[in-house]
Amino acid sequence: QDELKQAVAQTALEQIVDQLEEDSIVGVGTGSTANYFIDALAAYKDRFDGAVASSQASAERLKGHGIPVYDLNVVSEIKWYIDGADEANEHLHLIKGGGAALTREKIVAAVAEQFICIADESKLVGKLGAFPLPVEVIPMARSYVARELVKLGGDPVYRDGTVTDNGNIILDVWNLDIGSAVQLEEAINQIVGVVTNGLFARRPADILLLGTQEGVKTLK
Ligand code: A5P
Repeated sequence: QDELKQAVAQTALEQIVDQLEEDSIVGVGTGSTANYFIDALAAYKDRFDGAVASSQASAERLKGHGIPVYDLNVVSEIKWYIDGADEANEHLHLIKGGGAALTREKIVAAVAEQFICIADESKLVGKLGAFPLPVEVIPMARSYVARELVKLGGDPVYRDGTVTDNGNIILDVWNLDIGSAVQLEEAINQIVGVVTNGLFARRPADILLLGTQEGVKTLK
């Protein structure tokens, strides 16, 4: 699986490398697949300006390679956001947040012109939801949000010991029936105290690069 992740990371890099310009800012996600991308990107660090990271962990890794990391607020344009996923379907709807970075991931994805999702083939599913949906919640709203998520048909579990980069907690919601990902994403966002949920359906990926035993496949 590591080889498949490395292969998709390399393919993503090849897709952007010719378009890198002196002032380009690259949006970079979080997780083991994104880490392979960061490591591959480092070889080209003199060809672009810098990166915006979706987590402290990725920011540290980028800086470790000598790639400047910018605050999103000083950046006006991000051409690409490259990130992994916990699950993806053929509509390029995703579940993200296994690494608890979902809010910053969604923000950088929203700003980016193109979201290139990189994943190994195990992440492609017929129906989303076997992976429990991460929801970032303001700490004082934890119990209330959990009760509301039960009303939506889910079984929320508090991710004990996890504090997000934004100082919030994560509820992982099992057994959701994700028939309409867009509707469910919106419904969960309406619960007071929810910061973000890990469904990326209103803004799906634009391209999914899938590492398979037969090579990297592209889904659009
Ligand atoms: C991070 O919060 C997630 O959204 C990641 O994109 C996800 O967990 C993918 O991780 P791997 O690349 O390690 O599978």
